[in-house]
Amino acid sequence: MFWRKQYQIDMFRLPRHIAVIMDGNGRWARRRGLPRTAGHSAGADVLKTIVKECNRIGISYITVYAFSTENWKRPKEEVDYLMGLLLDYLRNAEKNLAGENVVIRVLGARDGLSQEIQEQIIKTENFTKDNTGIVMNIALNYGGREEITNAVKNLINDVKTGKLESADVNEEAICSRLYTENIPDPDLIIRTSGEQRLSNFLLWQCAYSEFWFTNKNWPSFRIQDLKKAIYDYQKRTRRFGGV
Ligand code: FPP
Repeated sequence: MFWRKQYQIDMFRLPRHIAVIMDGNGRWARRRGLPRTAGHSAGADVLKTIVKECNRIGISYITVYAFSTENWKRPKEEVDYLMGLLLDYLRNAEKNLAGENVVIRVLGARDGLSQEIQEQIIKTENFTKDNTGIVMNIALNYGGREEITNAVKNLINDVKTGKLESADVNEEAICSRLYTENIPDPDLIIRTSGEQRLSNFLLWQCAYSEFWFTNKNWPSFRIQDLKKAIYDYQKRTRRFGGV
């Protein structure tokens, strides 16, 4: 008989914000003799399931690393495919997440994206902005260093033009100039595929995040794995620098 461990999650101590580095799409595809793009497509399907489950159990925010500022270095066909997949995801968000009440937001340097994607982002964000369920942040053309550099430039400009006193440059002033303005820091960061690094994801925001890694590639990630990650997270003691 097939036996599967049930993870008892404490619904009163859920992570408020989960961030995911969806790694291993290419390896998943290669092991099956498929093109890398098939891995991304399977990854996008898994993402829908995971967002729905997070919403169902009551997670308030999920942030997913869909395309980094460094991913432009990939072969053109792969970049084009990923951009197409993202465009479809944004276009079909209403259909795919129908009844799910999901708010979709995009974090990253939008001006580096095609006009078509930029317009679709605005449409999808507007369409979902009054939903009351989980907030799904899609990190797209996102880089943590770029985000911080941008915030610093913005601060300098505001000081120069007299909108901000230099004495008022503090953590709050920086936070309010990041793409994640008004979004709480991630409590839990999940990375798949056995890699254990941040890869320029949420560098400022992860100061006190808990990390959880699995050897599974993203397209093989299941609801059971999500539950295990939350279960393990709940066993940890977070001290935020205190005792
Ligand atoms: C990393 O795997 C994955 C990416 C760079 C893209 C992630 C995108 C998706 C899961 C699908 C699209 C997302 C949305 C929001 C529709 P990799 O290609 O680096 O895998 P590898 O390390 O095995 O080569």
